[in-house]
Amino acid sequence: MDLDEAIRQRRSIRKYKADAPIPREDIEAIIEAGSWAPSSTNIQPWRFILVEDRETIASMAKAVYDKFQAVSKEALGKGEKRLAAFFRFLRSYGSFFADAPLVIVACAKPYENPVLKMPMATVVQKAKELEHMDVDVKPLVIDTVQKSVAMAVQNMLLKAQSLGYGTCVMDAPIAIEGTVREMLDIEDDLELVMVIPMGVPESTKVEAPERLAVEEVMRYHQA
Ligand SMILES: Cc1cc2nc3c(=O)[nH]c(=O)nc-3n(C[C@H](O)[C@H](O)[C@H](O)COP(=O)(O)O)c2cc1C
Repeated sequence: MDLDEAIRQRRSIRKYKADAPIPREDIEAIIEAGSWAPSSTNIQPWRFILVEDRETIASMAKAVYDKFQAVSKEALGKGEKRLAAFFRFLRSYGSFFADAPLVIVACAKPYENPVLKMPMATVVQKAKELEHMDVDVKPLVIDTVQKSVAMAVQNMLLKAQSLGYGTCVMDAPIAIEGTVREMLDIEDDLELVMVIPMGVPESTKVEAPERLAVEEVMRYHQA
């Protein structure tokens, strides 16, 4: 598949064909595409938990739905109608993946720079104490892992698209991070970044949400 075609035709797919599992060789090709992404100092902080078990996937989706339902009810009880509506929306926005044949949980390993040899929290703290410090080190040592994971995920979405699979990047399920962590036995040192259900799309006719025009999202700097 041509790159431009993959970029333009990729859509967030929220319904998958039943009984169309993804072969492991395709799963591994998708992960490999992710691993060719750039990462800060080539730390490759991405780690992927692959969930194929239908019951586990359905329970994860139910847990997300139930959580947002409870929060919405509580908000409504307190007279917060708009907030309640938002959380009602999040019920399905965060849980549509119950029937997906595969869910990938993309995680980030904390930054471990061999040069620094100290925990990143310490780097940030020590840097703050430097008299001439007007450099914000957080983007360099803390946020950089999530940025790197996002780059890998985009590669994976395009690879999946080229192999005929539909995907959807999600962060709503991260709202119940503790539950997901427990259900999947995720290592303590990994930070959950995104959840990506994947499968053969039930329909290929998914409308593309509009994009801002190129002129609206760019400007040439005038020297
Ligand atoms: C960081 C991020 C988080 C997202 N979270 C969700 C989500 O929780 N649930 C969902 O259904 N879609 C989610 N999406 C998908 C967006 O809704 C979708 O990308 C957007 O509407 C554009 O549609 P398209 O992907 O088909 O081009 C997320 C996308 C991104 C980049």
